[in-house]
Amino acid sequence: MHNNLVRVLITGCHSIIGQWLIKRCQGKFYVLGTSKDESTPLKKERFEYIKLDVTSRKMVKEVFKKFNPRFVVNTAGMNCIERCENEKEQCWKINVDSVNNLTYYSKFVNAKFIHISSSFIFDGKKGNYIEEDRPFPTTYYGKSKLASENIVKSSGLEWSIIRTSFIYGKDTIKKSKCFVDNLLNQVKQKNKIDIEENIILNPTYIGNFVDAVWKIIKLEKSGVFHIAGRETSTLEDFIKKIITINGFDSNLVQLKDKNNSIKNFGMIVTNAEKELNMKFLNVEEGLRFYFL
Ligand SMILES: NC(=O)c1ccc[n+]([C@@H]2O[C@H](COP(=O)([O-])OP(=O)(O)OC[C@H]3O[C@@H](n4cnc5c(N)ncnc54)[C@H](OP(=O)(O)O)[C@@H]3O)[C@@H](O)[C@H]2O)c1
Repeated sequence: MHNNLVRVLITGCHSIIGQWLIKRCQGKFYVLGTSKDESTPLKKERFEYIKLDVTSRKMVKEVFKKFNPRFVVNTAGMNCIERCENEKEQCWKINVDSVNNLTYYSKFVNAKFIHISSSFIFDGKKGNYIEEDRPFPTTYYGKSKLASENIVKSSGLEWSIIRTSFIYGKDTIKKSKCFVDNLLNQVKQKNKIDIEENIILNPTYIGNFVDAVWKIIKLEKSGVFHIAGRETSTLEDFIKKIITINGFDSNLVQLKDKNNSIKNFGMIVTNAEKELNMKFLNVEEGLRFYFL
């Protein structure tokens, strides 16, 4: 069935990015989904699955030898900023050491390495970041992502690094992790929504994001790309928009500490739009797709 298709290995395929990317790529590529779980709850029609803990060099070696991928898309990671701050050793193991393992064996099989990174490699002072701006992470999560980028860049492989921001969409595996649904459930119960962070991001609808990743693979694009919603928004305004388009009262939302200075992690995405010949969704368009 897969005979003539290009071989793509996806790590951490139970992440929100991983599960959507599998759906997007299956049938078009010969996809091997991997995660640290014994089996997959994803409908296994047109992809194969195998357990792979990316922190285990031995497992990475075995899987790479067996599958011999042409492309590796690394979506495994520790993504919670607070958890990274509290579990630094584990964060480094998952976000950095694993990238050493994966790039090392990608070199053996001559695979191209596609890595997912974050706008948190910047310090949030300037905003409107372009790919060439100087990174200066202030969180441990950001530091680990920057270290992983540096490993990829110096690996000697063909590579692309995709920096993204605030992805939302349906998580079919961990339904309780769905940001928009959780928010609406809170509002339906007339609970007040306290926003802790005064922050600007690019809300990014997952369907649009994986379309772009698919194009990066297909068109064999290399380099650093900012791939995210084309419009920036404060977290407060984004949450208020979700609430008002669903007919609820946005007064339920309050920014907890208004005196905290705003941090702007917004990214400019025009370079990636041009390279991939696509237009990323703005906030309203993204939400329209979400609620389709
Ligand atoms: N979501 C965003 O808004 C966003 C923004 C910028 C960058 N990113 C980056 O995109 C990547 C994926 O993010 P996401 O939000 O899709 O992540 P996610 O939903 O939090 O999932 C991360 C996945 O990695 C898995 N994982 C953890 N340790 C592993 C290991 N040792 N071996 C194999 N898999 C392991 C996790 O499994 P368990 O859940 O079982 O631990 C989980 O399935 C991350 O690198 C993140 O830094 C995400």
